[in-house]
Amino acid sequence: MKWRLRKTVVLVGMMGAGKTAVGTQLARMLQVPFRDSDDEIVKAANMTIAEIFARDGEPFFREKESQIIGRLLADQPSILSTGGGAYMAEANREAIREGGVAVWLRADVDLLWHRVRHRNNRPLLRTANPYETLRTLYAEREPVYAQAELIVDSEHGLSIDATAQRVIEA
Ligand code: S3P
Repeated sequence: MKWRLRKTVVLVGMMGAGKTAVGTQLARMLQVPFRDSDDEIVKAANMTIAEIFARDGEPFFREKESQIIGRLLADQPSILSTGGGAYMAEANREAIREGGVAVWLRADVDLLWHRVRHRNNRPLLRTANPYETLRTLYAEREPVYAQAELIVDSEHGLSIDATAQRVIEA
Protein backbone atom coordinates (compact mmCIF):
# COMPACT_ATOMS: atom_id res chain seq x y z
CA MET A 1 0.00 0.00 0.00
CA LYS A 2 1.24 3.45 -0.89
CA TRP A 3 1.69 5.66 2.16
CA ARG A 4 1.56 9.40 2.41
CA LEU A 5 4.25 10.42 4.87
CA ARG A 6 3.73 13.64 6.76
CA LYS A 7 7.38 13.82 7.73
CA THR A 8 10.64 12.31 6.63
CA VAL A 9 11.54 9.18 8.57
CA VAL A 10 15.22 9.58 9.44
CA LEU A 11 17.15 6.44 10.27
CA VAL A 12 20.03 7.08 12.65
CA GLY A 13 22.47 4.74 14.36
CA MET A 14 25.89 3.20 14.11
CA MET A 15 27.61 1.96 10.99
CA GLY A 16 26.50 -1.60 10.42
CA ALA A 17 23.10 -1.06 12.04
CA GLY A 18 21.45 -1.66 8.65
CA LYS A 19 20.15 1.86 8.03
CA THR A 20 20.59 1.66 4.26
CA ALA A 21 19.31 -1.90 3.86
CA VAL A 22 16.32 -1.40 6.16
CA GLY A 23 15.60 2.07 4.76
CA THR A 24 15.58 0.78 1.19
CA GLN A 25 13.19 -2.00 2.11
CA LEU A 26 11.00 0.28 4.20
CA ALA A 27 10.66 2.75 1.32
CA ARG A 28 9.76 -0.12 -0.98
CA MET A 29 7.08 -1.36 1.42
CA LEU A 30 5.55 2.09 1.89
CA GLN A 31 6.09 3.07 -1.75
CA VAL A 32 7.77 6.32 -0.82
CA PRO A 33 11.13 7.76 -1.92
CA PHE A 34 14.36 6.54 -0.33
CA ARG A 35 17.35 8.83 0.24
CA ASP A 36 20.76 8.17 1.71
CA SER A 37 22.90 11.08 2.91
CA ASP A 38 26.20 9.22 2.30
CA ASP A 39 25.13 8.44 -1.28
CA GLU A 40 24.23 12.05 -1.93
CA ILE A 41 27.64 13.21 -0.66
CA VAL A 42 29.42 10.65 -2.83
CA LYS A 43 27.41 11.66 -5.89
CA ALA A 44 27.95 15.38 -5.35
CA ALA A 45 31.70 15.01 -4.76
CA ASN A 46 32.22 12.21 -7.27
CA MET A 47 34.52 10.60 -4.70
CA THR A 48 34.11 7.79 -2.18
CA ILE A 49 33.61 8.63 1.50
CA ALA A 50 37.13 7.34 2.20
CA GLU A 51 38.55 9.63 -0.49
CA ILE A 52 36.69 12.64 0.91
CA PHE A 53 38.00 11.94 4.42
CA ALA A 54 41.55 11.46 3.09
CA ARG A 55 41.58 14.50 0.82
CA ASP A 56 39.41 17.07 2.58
CA GLY A 57 39.20 15.76 6.15
CA GLU A 58 36.33 14.82 8.44
CA PRO A 59 35.17 18.41 9.22
CA PHE A 60 34.61 19.01 5.49
CA PHE A 61 32.65 15.76 5.25
CA ARG A 62 30.51 16.79 8.25
CA GLU A 63 29.76 20.15 6.68
CA LYS A 64 28.59 18.50 3.46
CA GLU A 65 26.61 15.97 5.48
CA SER A 66 24.72 18.72 7.34
CA GLN A 67 24.00 20.62 4.13
CA ILE A 68 22.66 17.53 2.42
CA ILE A 69 20.50 16.49 5.39
CA GLY A 70 19.03 20.00 5.51
CA ARG A 71 18.28 19.89 1.81
CA LEU A 72 16.72 16.41 1.95
CA LEU A 73 14.55 17.35 4.93
CA ALA A 74 13.22 20.35 3.02
CA ASP A 75 12.33 18.13 0.08
CA GLN A 76 9.28 15.86 -0.13
CA PRO A 77 8.93 13.42 2.79
CA SER A 78 11.03 10.30 2.32
CA ILE A 79 12.83 7.57 4.18
CA LEU A 80 16.26 9.06 4.86
CA SER A 81 19.20 6.95 5.90
CA THR A 82 22.01 8.97 7.50
CA GLY A 83 25.69 8.23 8.13
CA GLY A 84 26.48 7.03 11.65
CA GLY A 85 27.95 10.36 12.77
CA ALA A 86 25.20 12.60 11.41
CA TYR A 87 23.03 12.55 14.52
CA MET A 88 25.96 13.61 16.70
CA ALA A 89 25.75 17.23 15.54
CA GLU A 90 23.29 19.28 17.59
CA ALA A 91 22.30 21.30 14.51
CA ASN A 92 21.43 18.12 12.62
CA ARG A 93 19.39 16.80 15.54
CA GLU A 94 17.46 20.03 15.64
CA ALA A 95 16.84 20.00 11.88
CA ILE A 96 15.66 16.39 12.12
CA ARG A 97 13.36 17.19 15.06
CA GLU A 98 11.78 19.98 13.04
CA GLY A 99 11.51 18.32 9.66
CA GLY A 100 11.32 14.64 10.40
CA VAL A 101 11.10 11.87 12.91
CA ALA A 102 14.31 10.17 14.07
CA VAL A 103 14.37 6.40 14.39
CA TRP A 104 17.40 4.89 16.10
CA LEU A 105 18.17 1.54 14.53
CA ARG A 106 19.81 -0.04 17.54
CA ALA A 107 22.15 -3.02 17.33
CA ASP A 108 24.72 -4.25 19.82
CA VAL A 109 28.42 -3.82 19.25
CA ASP A 110 29.08 -7.46 18.39
CA LEU A 111 26.43 -7.47 15.68
CA LEU A 112 27.77 -4.19 14.30
CA TRP A 113 31.27 -5.60 14.30
CA HIS A 114 30.10 -8.79 12.58
CA ARG A 115 28.66 -6.65 9.78
CA VAL A 116 31.46 -4.14 9.30
CA ARG A 117 34.61 -6.17 10.01
CA HIS A 118 35.24 -7.31 6.45
CA ARG A 119 34.43 -4.00 4.83
CA ASN A 120 37.17 -1.54 4.23
CA ASN A 121 35.03 1.44 3.34
CA ARG A 122 34.72 3.15 6.72
CA PRO A 123 37.56 5.59 7.30
CA LEU A 124 36.83 5.91 11.03
CA LEU A 125 37.59 2.21 11.48
CA ARG A 126 40.99 2.36 9.81
CA THR A 127 42.80 2.13 13.13
CA ALA A 128 45.17 -0.34 14.76
CA ASN A 129 42.27 -1.91 16.67
CA PRO A 130 39.03 -1.28 14.78
CA TYR A 131 36.94 -3.39 17.17
CA GLU A 132 38.01 -1.21 20.10
CA THR A 133 37.39 1.92 18.00
CA LEU A 134 33.88 0.71 17.24
CA ARG A 135 33.22 0.02 20.93
CA THR A 136 34.47 3.45 21.94
CA LEU A 137 32.39 5.18 19.27
CA TYR A 138 29.33 3.21 20.34
CA ALA A 139 29.81 4.15 23.98
CA GLU A 140 30.14 7.84 23.09
CA ARG A 141 27.22 7.88 20.72
CA GLU A 142 24.67 5.68 22.45
CA PRO A 143 23.30 8.41 24.77
CA VAL A 144 22.89 10.72 21.80
CA TYR A 145 21.10 8.16 19.60
CA ALA A 146 18.83 7.57 22.58
CA GLN A 147 17.40 11.06 22.00
CA ALA A 148 15.66 9.76 18.85
CA GLU A 149 11.86 9.74 19.00
CA LEU A 150 11.70 6.05 18.21
CA ILE A 151 13.98 3.10 18.88
CA VAL A 152 13.90 -0.07 16.83
CA ASP A 153 16.10 -3.07 17.58
CA SER A 154 17.94 -4.69 14.73
CA GLU A 155 18.83 -8.08 16.12
CA HIS A 156 20.98 -10.89 14.92
CA GLY A 157 18.89 -13.26 12.83
CA LEU A 158 16.10 -10.76 12.22
CA SER A 159 15.62 -10.23 8.48
CA ILE A 160 15.73 -6.84 6.79
CA ASP A 161 12.02 -7.23 6.02
CA ALA A 162 11.16 -7.98 9.63
CA THR A 163 13.23 -5.03 10.85
CA ALA A 164 11.52 -2.71 8.34
CA GLN A 165 8.19 -4.06 9.60
CA ARG A 166 9.24 -3.12 13.15
CA VAL A 167 9.88 0.44 12.01
CA ILE A 168 6.40 0.59 10.49
CA GLU A 169 4.88 -0.65 13.73
CA ALA A 170 6.91 1.85 15.78
C1 S3P B 1 30.35 7.34 9.71
C2 S3P B 1 29.51 6.40 9.16
C3 S3P B 1 29.43 6.14 7.71
C4 S3P B 1 29.91 7.37 6.91
C5 S3P B 1 31.25 7.81 7.40
C6 S3P B 1 31.24 8.20 8.88
C7 S3P B 1 30.35 7.55 11.18
O1 S3P B 1 28.09 5.83 7.35
O2 S3P B 1 28.99 8.42 7.01
O3 S3P B 1 32.15 6.77 7.16
O4 S3P B 1 30.80 8.60 11.64
O5 S3P B 1 29.86 6.65 11.90
P1 S3P B 1 27.33 4.46 7.75
O6 S3P B 1 26.77 4.63 9.12
O7 S3P B 1 26.27 4.34 6.71
O8 S3P B 1 28.35 3.38 7.66
